Amino acid sequence: MEDNKIQEVKAPSLVTSPLVGTGVHVFAPATVANVVCGFDVLGFAVNEPGDEVVMRITNKPGITISKITGDDGRLPLDPAKNTVSVSVQHYLQSVGRTDIGLDIELHKKMPIGSGLGSSSASTVAGLFAIKTLLGDDADPAKLLPFAMKGEEMACGHGHADNVAPALLGGFVLIRSYEPLDVVRLPHPAGLYCAIVFPDVDVPTREARQIIRKNIQMKDAVTQWGNIAGLVSGLFMQDIDLIGRSMKDVLVEPVRSMLIPDFYKMREMAMSLGAVSFGISGSGPSVFAFTKDEETARLITQKLQQHLTGLKIGSNTYVSTINDAGPRVIG
Ligand code: HSE
Repeated sequence: MEDNKIQEVKAPSLVTSPLVGTGVHVFAPATVANVVCGFDVLGFAVNEPGDEVVMRITNKPGITISKITGDDGRLPLDPAKNTVSVSVQHYLQSVGRTDIGLDIELHKKMPIGSGLGSSSASTVAGLFAIKTLLGDDADPAKLLPFAMKGEEMACGHGHADNVAPALLGGFVLIRSYEPLDVVRLPHPAGLYCAIVFPDVDVPTREARQIIRKNIQMKDAVTQWGNIAGLVSGLFMQDIDLIGRSMKDVLVEPVRSMLIPDFYKMREMAMSLGAVSFGISGSGPSVFAFTKDEETARLITQKLQQHLTGLKIGSNTYVSTINDAGPRVIG
């Protein structure tokens, strides 16, 4: 990986480009990483929640972040410390456009530290905004290394299983990190995702530190059988195969300890008709796949009631898989 520091931008004069004053408003989706058995290699995008970035070209070279809303003051306005501006700066360097000025507003529309790819949604919205403003029609996948810089900064590791589906939409496999090789997978139409975010703090950085560094061969065999089963189920549109493959013997046994009543919630979701249930990303959000919207809504409602009984607040979301990825909304 390259050095993550941003080089100082020399900004001696005002920009007089015809682009000055143009702006764009972009939405990028939340994502469910790992998809239970595919730690760091599988993820998919959902329709809601997501984050929004408003970006304008200014006549003062360099990046400023003028506003962040919805973050309770948790995110830095300093462009050298914010994942959105850092990723955008890396992109500008790569296309040789550090001469331009940018003003960024970040509107957080989803919880931070939720396991729903919060930093990825912001970063991808920022990268999609600058790509749109500059009229860069290159394949969006080319933005992936810049988005991964943001992940590296946010949680100490440049994994791609949130940023890739946020950027490309749909279901994504990271076949390899070095070299980066990302494969978009099909999925059955009509698969619903029920998400419950219990309001407890599980920072990704810490949730990564607690997992085992070495694994047993017998567990590896179980895991790769399940990953292959899940990918086959996606291709074959076999929802039952998808469901029985979504088992994780490596990470979930450790991380589930950070999530209130994880196994009870799984039992409830499965008895209400879920196809599968697991941790979203590094948690604390959990998700279930269902075959219809009604079951997804029932699961979110019952799990939320259960958490309320434990005096834990929660947010819930029901969505199909978002195949579009980021989009311009204004
Ligand atoms: N694959 C990452 C992890 C996703 O599980 O740590 C973080 O959302």
